[in-house]
Amino acid sequence: MSGAASPARPVRRVVAHLSDPHVLWAPGRRPPWWTFLNKRVLGGLNLLLKRRHPVAQFEAALDDIAADPPDALVVTGDLSNLAYAAEFERARDLLLGCGVPPERVVVIPGNHDAYTRGSVRRRAFERGLAPFLAAEPVRWPRFLLLDEILLAATSSAVPTPWFTAYGRLGAEQLEALREGLAAPATARVVLVHHPPLQANGRPDHRWRGNRDGARLLELCHEAGVDLLLCGHTHRRFQYRTPEGLRIVCAGSVTQPPRALGEAGTYHRYIFEGGRPTAIETRAFDPERRAFCAYEGIVLGAGAS
Ligand SMILES: [Fe+2]
Repeated sequence: MSGAASPARPVRRVVAHLSDPHVLWAPGRRPPWWTFLNKRVLGGLNLLLKRRHPVAQFEAALDDIAADPPDALVVTGDLSNLAYAAEFERARDLLLGCGVPPERVVVIPGNHDAYTRGSVRRRAFERGLAPFLAAEPVRWPRFLLLDEILLAATSSAVPTPWFTAYGRLGAEQLEALREGLAAPATARVVLVHHPPLQANGRPDHRWRGNRDGARLLELCHEAGVDLLLCGHTHRRFQYRTPEGLRIVCAGSVTQPPRALGEAGTYHRYIFEGGRPTAIETRAFDPERRAFCAYEGIVLGAGAS
């Protein structure tokens, strides 16, 4: 019989975060040509020129996630290229195979998921990704409590004029977010597609950035938010505000492969005892055609 009981280990939770997969429609489901006769003509041209995000790389990321399933998976927008139903449905089918139950998969839209007014009117994102969006109609923000870790999912996706890609949250959503973040929690994590600040600590250009970023930051600081998880830039970065908020952009998981670390990445956030303690980056290895451990940072006990 042993003597003194060893102290209980703190509960460990893992949240995986990927962004901007830009899933193309499945072969044989190309939308009719006349549906490109709007803002989609620009994005469609890019696709014609083969500037595509490889879907196989998204599948590789989901295989990697399925091999060691996290407690929750968050996807911070731009699941599609041009907000077509066929793109959302393919993204949905792939996500359903990632080994995380749909009620623990949190998806938010990006600007590409609201590419045209028509796609927003038809609720293409909500319909395509319905298994992950419990309620209809979907109201933002949405909250998921993982033990006492509060995940707040917002939408900054709005249809914008040609040659622009900015985001907005709106006063109503910001107020609902403020109220929701007041709930008891050991850690608070907010998801938004458009980062309020870039890697250099400054807001992005007005035509591309989060037009409600300043108010969002203020609100996150007031509520003691630990992590603000973003996408949009396709470049992985972290920036910590003087108030202690850590803004983390996961990059695009399907960034076309060059060298290891320059291709797609995604993150795993480790929580121990309800507090974030580490961030692990997993990167696509173009030689092995698979994701692998790339970088890890320790946040330290009780760090935010
Ligand atoms: Fe985006």
